[in-house]
Amino acid sequence: MILVHAARQLVSRLYIHPILVNFTAALVPVSLGSDVLERLTRRGSLRETGWWTMLYAACVTPFTALAGWLFWMKDDVGVHGMAIHKWLGTSLAVLIPALALWRSRFWKADRRPNGLYLGAGLVLLAALILQGHLGGVQVFKDM
Ligand code: HEM
Repeated sequence: MILVHAARQLVSRLYIHPILVNFTAALVPVSLGSDVLERLTRRGSLRETGWWTMLYAACVTPFTALAGWLFWMKDDVGVHGMAIHKWLGTSLAVLIPALALWRSRFWKADRRPNGLYLGAGLVLLAALILQGHLGGVQVFKDM
C-alpha cells in the first residue's frame, strides 16, 4: 500500500502519464505509416522502421497504461469519457504488444506485412486517436 502511494505521488508530480502517452501516440502511427509507405516506395529501410517502432511501442505502452492508473484523480471518477479512456487504454496495453507479436512474424520471415495486418493496425490506430482525444478533452475541457 505504501509502495502504491509512493508510485502515485511520483507519477503525479512528474506527470509521467502525459509524457509517456507521446511515445505511444508517435510510435504506432510511425510504424504503420512506414509499412504503408514501404509498399508504395519499396524502400527496405521503411520495413525495418515499421518493425522496430512497433516493438518500441509494445514495450512502452504497458507503462503508459500503468502510469494512467496511477494518475487517476477524483475528478475523473464518474466522467463517461474517462471511463472509456480507462478501459480502452488498458485494452491498448494488451493489443499493441499483440500487434507487435504479429508484426514479428513478418520480420522473422523477411516478408512485408500483409493487408490484414495493416487493416487491423489502422483500426487500432483509430482507437488510439479516440483514446488521445478523450484524455485531452478531460485535461483541457476548462480552457
Ligand atoms: C495507450 C494508453 C493511453 C493513452 C495513449 C493515453 C492518452 C492520454 C492523453 C493524450 C491524455 C491527455 C494528457 C495531456 O495532454 O496532458 C491522457 C490523460 C489521462 N489519462 Fe490516459 N492514456 C492511456 C491510458 C490510460 C489509462 C489506462 C488510464 C487509467 C486507468 C489513463 C488515465 C488518464 C488520466 C487520469 C488522465 C488525466 C485526466 C485529468 O487530467 O483529469 N490513461 N491520457
